[in-house]
Amino acid sequence: MAQESRRISPDQLRSRWWFDNPDHPGTTALCIERYLNQGITLEELTSGRPIIGICQSGSDLTPCNRHHVELAKRVKDGIRAAGGVPFEFPMHPIHENVRRPTAALDRNLAYLGLVEVLHGYPLDGVVLTTGCDKTTPAALMAAATVNIPAIVLSGGPMLNGWRGAERVGSGTVVWEMRKRLAAGDIDYPEFLSRIADSAPSVGHCNTMGTASTMNALAEALGMSLPGSAMIPGPYKERGAVAYRTGERIVDLVREDLRPSDILTREAFENALVTCSALGGSSNAPIHVNAIARHAGVALDNDDWQRLGHEIPLLANVMPAGAYLGEEFHRAGGVPAVMHELLDAGRLHGEAITVNGRTLAENLAGRETRDPEVIRRYANPLVEHAGFLNLKGNLFDSALMKTSVISADFRRRFLEAPDDPQAFEGRVVVFDGAEDYHARIDDPALAIDATTILVMRGAGPVGHPGGAEVVNMQPPEALIRAGIESLPCLGDGRQSGTSGSPSILNAAPEAATGGPLALLESGDRLRVDLGRGEVRLLVDDATLSRRRERLEAVGGYAYPPHQTPWQEIQRSMVEPLDRGMILAPAPQYRDVARRSPPR
Ligand code: FES
Ligand code: MG
Repeated sequence: MAQESRRISPDQLRSRWWFDNPDHPGTTALCIERYLNQGITLEELTSGRPIIGICQSGSDLTPCNRHHVELAKRVKDGIRAAGGVPFEFPMHPIHENVRRPTAALDRNLAYLGLVEVLHGYPLDGVVLTTGCDKTTPAALMAAATVNIPAIVLSGGPMLNGWRGAERVGSGTVVWEMRKRLAAGDIDYPEFLSRIADSAPSVGHCNTMGTASTMNALAEALGMSLPGSAMIPGPYKERGAVAYRTGERIVDLVREDLRPSDILTREAFENALVTCSALGGSSNAPIHVNAIARHAGVALDNDDWQRLGHEIPLLANVMPAGAYLGEEFHRAGGVPAVMHELLDAGRLHGEAITVNGRTLAENLAGRETRDPEVIRRYANPLVEHAGFLNLKGNLFDSALMKTSVISADFRRRFLEAPDDPQAFEGRVVVFDGAEDYHARIDDPALAIDATTILVMRGAGPVGHPGGAEVVNMQPPEALIRAGIESLPCLGDGRQSGTSGSPSILNAAPEAATGGPLALLESGDRLRVDLGRGEVRLLVDDATLSRRRERLEAVGGYAYPPHQTPWQEIQRSMVEPLDRGMILAPAPQYRDVARRSPPR
């Protein structure tokens, strides 16, 4: 059943407090006069039309979302056609590839800024323009907190990248070419030219990296129009769906359909199941758990394993598969994947979505149009493609993306005759990315084909925001000898475009006293995927001595803060498994209704 309409009258709009408030004639006049000087008419501001914000995430600094500057014109056309009044405003820029020390540092900053705008300005609803990795979770976290009607408009992925007849996927090509460069097969100009091939147009990464994953999951959550997430940025349908999104937000306001109606436990379960079938980014559990925390829904990494691990991989898209965004869209996009999952009884079909209809209603007739690109549930690319939530004596939670375990990795590490789910190795430990780059080729480390590489000091406190550095490549000498990957483990993240089966997002991190801080190169680790366990094979007495030594020097050392925000975030950020959110933030949920602006 679709959502029963609970229409509100124009005088119930929150914008009336600013624009039509006879108790405060002075402040009302001041609110109105500066908008009038833009050429907006008094009638538009005071006649009870919904005032709609367009949160503009595109800018010259955020090229993945830059075309939203143009798309916003179509959004405004749709808003006006439906009787609303649009107000576009900027979001703090977040560009994944360029922001230092990491774009993830800005997810919570953009969230904070957006909460303040949505709470403090006369907005009845908001269109959230999204694209590049962290822009989508930042926007959804804020919408969940403020809880005014909101709808997501993805900018869509870039067109496919090509080199001759070969598809070149953004991000994924970097990880491949880095190895070719290290092996001496190509020089730097060739390296650069091959990477530039992957980005032929406007739009976000054309692989199933964090950007495409999070926009697909925004749709799976019910927060964007069905079929809209993966329309490539330059396609004509992208402008059309921008217009329809603008039309729809006005009715969302009139129907008072809020994020809290859509972002339910069932919706989050739908999103995490869909993530597995997409072969989605290892950043998704962090962001989806964060959105859930702000929406007041309990969700953790045990849920990801319990509900998500056994789901098969259906999307044949890089890095887990062979194709890119354009083929995925033509094959039916997110609805076609969810259609298979719903048919298999894996989704909650009654979940309400932003168009006012249920997920099941939206998915009717949306079968895959190309079963090679979007597989049937009975004929997947990989069985059990979701995340494993590993535990043990080194951390409470760390994720492994099983859809990307290659045949070579499986043969070398997981098909030992004693236990086909487990392996043991000697660790070599690095403290942050600089340490790794400085020492990885040092022969004294004696890294061989059985070594486990460990990265620490890369969590949200150790490296503000958490560094995408866990997918470490082996020493050049090993690559030249044909060993292209080693097991990696760490308290940082890795790029969603990486096809590396690392054990990552380990929490608690070394910098907050996690046992990873006690690890020493030469220790042995046992990784048992069957039992979901990683064990450090060092006796407790030795670990106690190491703990005492560490505490005597004041704990695990990490670099000083470089900016005020780094210091603020470090003082209150939660671990990766709890969404890396700001600890005080969830208590402000539903802030627009609970505390009208004074
Ligand atoms: Fe922006 Fe990948 S770098 S989407
Ligand atoms: Mg990244």
